[in-house]
Amino acid sequence: MEGVNEIPRGTLQEQTFYEQVGGEQTFRRLVHRFYQGVAEDPLLRPMYPEDDLGPAEERLTLFLMQYWGGPRTYSDNRGHPRLRMRHVPFTVNRAAHDAWLRHMRDAVDELELAPEHERQLWHYLTYAAASMINTEG
Ligand code: HEM
Repeated sequence: MEGVNEIPRGTLQEQTFYEQVGGEQTFRRLVHRFYQGVAEDPLLRPMYPEDDLGPAEERLTLFLMQYWGGPRTYSDNRGHPRLRMRHVPFTVNRAAHDAWLRHMRDAVDELELAPEHERQLWHYLTYAAASMINTEG
């Protein structure tokens, strides 16, 4: 017999990844930390023309929230992500890929997620970063 203290079956499994890892504030922490790294990066920083990295931080945050099952604000504002196409104006070579992932790795580490969540998130980020490479060498 199910005890009164048991969480009803199904409840937890139906949560999105977004909810499981703590929702908006987790994604805000992740991307904020990531852009602190970008701000200091001699290769990546010049790719962002704006003086203020805030708008880019907001776009990536909203995109990742949506990707993982959160609100669809990114697409409401920006339309279909078409990420590869949006990166065409930038030289994403192996060095840019490595730098991007290095800052993301630091940011993911600071979240201290459960190992399974961390594994899923990192798996996605590494595959997504590889798929964004558009320039050899
Ligand atoms: C691999 C190295 C990467 C580099 C060097 C790079 C660089 C950039 C730059 C310079 C921008 C323009 C700033 C802006 O308008 O927001 C940008 C935008 C963006 N990037 Fe990346 N990016 C990389 C990988 C990724 C990956 C893996 C993702 C997703 C997981 C991603 C998601 C985005 C998003 C959502 C935007 C904003 C798109 C928009 O709505 O305009 N990027 N990226």
